[in-house]
Amino acid sequence: MFDIAPDFGALLVFIEHRYYGESKPFGNDSYKSADTLGYLTSTQALADFAVLITSLKQNLSAVDAPVIVFGGSYGGMLASWFRLKYPHVAMGALASSAPILQFDDITPWSSFYDAVSQDFKSESLNCFSVIKAVWDVLDDRGSSDTGLLELSKTFRACKTVRFPSSLSNWLWTAFTYTAMVDYPTPANFMMNLPAYPVKEMCKIIDSFPAGADVVEKAFAAASLYYNYTGDQKCFQVEGGDDHHGLSGWGWQACTEMVMPMTVSNESMFPPSGFSYEEKSEGCFASYEVRPRMNWITTEYGGHKIDKVLKRFGSNIIFSNGMRDPWSRGGVLKNISSSIIALVTEKGAHHLDFRSATKDDPDWVVEQRRQEVEIIHGWIDQYNKYIAQM
Ligand SMILES: *[C@@H]1O[C@H](CO)[C@@H](O)[C@H](O)[C@H]1NC(C)=O
Ligand SMILES: *[C@@H]1O[C@H](CO)[C@@H](O)[C@H](O)[C@H]1NC(C)=O
Ligand SMILES: *[C@@H]1O[C@H](CO)[C@@H](O)[C@H](O)[C@H]1NC(C)=O
Ligand SMILES: *[C@@H]1O[C@H](CO)[C@@H](O)[C@H](O)[C@H]1NC(C)=O
Ligand SMILES: *[C@@H]1O[C@H](CO)[C@@H](O)[C@H](O)[C@H]1NC(C)=O
Repeated sequence: MFDIAPDFGALLVFIEHRYYGESKPFGNDSYKSADTLGYLTSTQALADFAVLITSLKQNLSAVDAPVIVFGGSYGGMLASWFRLKYPHVAMGALASSAPILQFDDITPWSSFYDAVSQDFKSESLNCFSVIKAVWDVLDDRGSSDTGLLELSKTFRACKTVRFPSSLSNWLWTAFTYTAMVDYPTPANFMMNLPAYPVKEMCKIIDSFPAGADVVEKAFAAASLYYNYTGDQKCFQVEGGDDHHGLSGWGWQACTEMVMPMTVSNESMFPPSGFSYEEKSEGCFASYEVRPRMNWITTEYGGHKIDKVLKRFGSNIIFSNGMRDPWSRGGVLKNISSSIIALVTEKGAHHLDFRSATKDDPDWVVEQRRQEVEIIHGWIDQYNKYIAQM
């Protein structure tokens, strides 16, 4: 957006979502309980955007100016939903890597981890097999105190690890996030990483002698994610990031944003199922609420989206890169002449929204060019229409 705004003579407005960043309605108490968190919903966030955009346009004496909304990931879902709910406020949306079909049973629940696994498998079968083999070995060795002590040393943990599951989670995070950010150029989105980091991880694994320990191999690969810059003295394997603490997304995932995920036996991760009861108990323990499984599709749709949007919607670009596991829950087919899916085989999580660099491959340059062309078309049409009114 930052790159293309001048081309449109556009005013760029970045609206912060309530309960994120500095937008805490109850200050430091915002995440305290269901009473204060209750106002954190996507519906209310969209209404905030509508109020702000409308007010800003009035203040700028630009009530007729066309508005295009942009978002990536959850922000991409919001962008597409905003266009559908507030067509009088925004005349178009670019939704990048927006998994709006990752709800209910629209997309197979195993697709996310199958896609992560596919990324690694596509680099080398050995790489995939090593990662697939590591989980059982970790469980075995981690089942005794001496084993955990040894593993803590291997993982260069800052403190001796108490649970073998912490080691698995640490590896799991590295492989999953690296698949998401498998960008074609060096980037610093989640972490500082080289171009095509999945390929680099697999190169590390493949460079070991065949008989080497799988744990050593997997650790070395994960170190690329955690220590590419080489400045880590030790790793916070346990109690590093607080994923379970009270936070905005934890609440949203426990109320409306329920994206069921399972791990199939075809993947490189240990197979697991999804249980609504377990999820619900966990949410109740954390927030005293229970998730509404089908709320998102009730509120915004998603089932038979092609048929529904063909007649009812317009002016939305859904862009996805197939290296990104979230792409599987995205809109990957053109729905109409103005609800367009732009899909790149080698793209990753909202790659198109990253600033252009001189090393960008042609297919990213082309994807961004197409987006600009399509949006120009919408605006031309809008301006003609406004002129007639
Ligand atoms: C909220 O928390 C931050 C960080 O802990 C602190 O700096 C700030 O003073 C607190 N604000 C209030 C109003 O208590
Ligand atoms: C528009 O102007 C009013 C009156 O000055 C102000 O209260 C409001 O915050 C402004 N809206 C925006 C989006 O800046
Ligand atoms: C991080 O990388 C640097 C450079 O390769 C290395 O010296 C250091 O030991 C690594 N840190 C850990 C915790 O492995
Ligand atoms: C994998 O899962 C499928 C479907 O659930 C099942 O039919 C198959 O036997 C499983 N394969 C292995 C190796 O466990
Ligand atoms: C959708 O249509 C555009 C042309 O408008 C085309 O470039 C693009 O490849 C199509 N997307 C898919 C997924 O076929």
